[in-house]
This record gives sequence, C-alpha cells and structure tokens, in this order.
Amino acid sequence: MPIRQDAKEKILAICESHKGEPSPLMVVLEEIQREFGYIPFDVQEMVANKLNVSVSDVYGVVTFYNFFSLNPKGKYVIGVCLGTACYVKNSQAVLDKFEEVLGIKSGETSEDGLFTIEALRCIGACALAPAVSINGKVYPMVAPSKVPSIIDEYRKLEEVA
Ligand code: FES
Repeated sequence: MPIRQDAKEKILAICESHKGEPSPLMVVLEEIQREFGYIPFDVQEMVANKLNVSVSDVYGVVTFYNFFSLNPKGKYVIGVCLGTACYVKNSQAVLDKFEEVLGIKSGETSEDGLFTIEALRCIGACALAPAVSINGKVYPMVAPSKVPSIIDEYRKLEEVA
C-alpha cells in the first residue's frame, strides 16, 4: 500500500528533527511507531534514505525489538505473558486458547481488525501469573476457560460503540 502524502510528510519531519543527532535511527523509529502503530517496508526505505543508513540496518532494528511492528495492530492488543512465572502456571495453554477462539496465531491480527495477539516476556505482574494484558489492562490468574468471556467483553464493547 502506498504511503499517504500526509504520512510521508510527517515521517520526513520526524527524520529531519533528529538528523543532526549522533545515532538517530532508534528514536526516529520509536516516534514513527508511536505515531502510526507500525513500520511497513516502504517506510523503512524512506527512513534509510533520509538518515543515510542501509535498509537492512533499519529492518534489523525493527525486527529485533518487540516494540516495533511491521503490520498494523488490532484495536485491542492481547499480550499473553510467557515469562517464567507465567509459563510455569500454564500460560502457554492460555495463549493457545486465545489463538483458538480468535482463529489467529500469535503476532497476527483478526480480519475484523479488532484483535492482535502477542506473546510477551514478563509484564511485571508475576504475582498475578498467569497474566494477560489487553491494551495495558492486566487480567490476573487467567485460566484458559476464562478466555472466551474475556473476548466477549471486548466484542460487547464494540456492539455498544
Ligand atoms: S513472568 Fe509473567 S508477569 Fe512476570
């Protein structure tokens, strides 16, 4: 998909505002991620040209850090913690259940654009393991059997919206 003109201008302005800095790549990508929610390949090329770095350097950063995304995320981002404390309390089964109920894999977004599932490493709520975070709201001690009702909660929100 081609980059919209207003988005292009915004991206160029972000690059421009950090151009004189010693290593602007990370901060530029962070701002773009925050502004647009993802960094597709076309945008990576633009950033590479503008900052005089190779596209593979940009791609390397975007794919290395979890914070960056190559694809648009859903309205609700479901983070299932697979950190040690959660993992030993069966969080893999919780992740499997989200994947089953939504019909997508971790890292994917549902076709209606509502849900993205992510597997995370420790979200700082180990005492509440297994923990799930949805747009920053933490769900404690989530059993796989609770997953359908959690999804319903958000589907209902969409119905009233
Ligand atoms: S390991 Fe899951 S919150 Fe820390």
